[in-house]
Amino acid sequence: MADWNPELYNRFRRYRAEPVEHIFSRLQFADDEQMIDLGCGPGDNTVELARRSAHGAARGVDSSPAMIEAAEKLRDSLPIDLKSRLSFAVIDVSTFSADREYSLIFSNATIQWLRDHRGVFTRCLAALKPGGRLAVQMPANAIETAKVEMDRLLGESPWRELLGGIQIPFRKDAVPEHYLRMLTELGYADVDSYYVTFHHPMDSPAEVVQWYRSTGLRPFVDALPDDRQGEFLAAYTERLERAYGATGPMTFDFRRIFIWGRRPG
Ligand SMILES: C[S@@+](CC[C@H](N)C(=O)[O-])C[C@H]1O[C@@H](n2cnc3c(N)ncnc32)[C@H](O)[C@@H]1O
Repeated sequence: MADWNPELYNRFRRYRAEPVEHIFSRLQFADDEQMIDLGCGPGDNTVELARRSAHGAARGVDSSPAMIEAAEKLRDSLPIDLKSRLSFAVIDVSTFSADREYSLIFSNATIQWLRDHRGVFTRCLAALKPGGRLAVQMPANAIETAKVEMDRLLGESPWRELLGGIQIPFRKDAVPEHYLRMLTELGYADVDSYYVTFHHPMDSPAEVVQWYRSTGLRPFVDALPDDRQGEFLAAYTERLERAYGATGPMTFDFRRIFIWGRRPG
């Protein structure tokens, strides 16, 4: 699969920042936090974490070399104090493990790409210092028009034949009750999980296609021969125009799931 495209991903930065603001609004930062950002992407949130803890350190890890390159570039542009408290590395989160190193594990819009959530949250608990906190957000938007239409289109000819073999780890069981039970069973304290739906004004359904082009549609579009990619995106755009009943401004609703826990002690 082609690497992520940080530029395209950043295009909707303002909207993608809203769930992060939600997380920050619930977190209090001590002066000496040891933090890790799992699936840090271009690093903006990792920088924000470091900014919020006066003498704390934040490490961003991501499996995409292009994302880590963008994050390193961002780090290089920062004042020396902040820069010295940040580090980035190419790491697959499904192999991440540590022993009581972190006071905060943060992960925004990444864990949905992993299959074994129980394994990840088990290793996160071991990686937290006693009293350390876990704050996670993932998309949970299978019910929204754009996602429903995407699944329909992928199930139809010729896309079904061209793309049917592609497996992505998105889960339909990503409901708050599932994570409340899982984290409690694993031994987390102060467990919380809930949905929040964000409402994003868009110029047109074509913008929604651009949104998904940089995330959920990547595995599919990248798997198509170059001369079919435009055709697929045009078919998807046409679908969305019909489904939303608009070719101009519209609201794109995006439901997300938040997951919180704390290591006892
Ligand atoms: C939607 S982006 C979120 C980036 C960032 N957390 C943010 O909020 O802007 C998803 C990120 O997950 C990363 N990712 C996907 N699978 C991963 C894995 N197995 N290990 C580490 N990072 C992964 C991608 O490279 C991408 O940067």
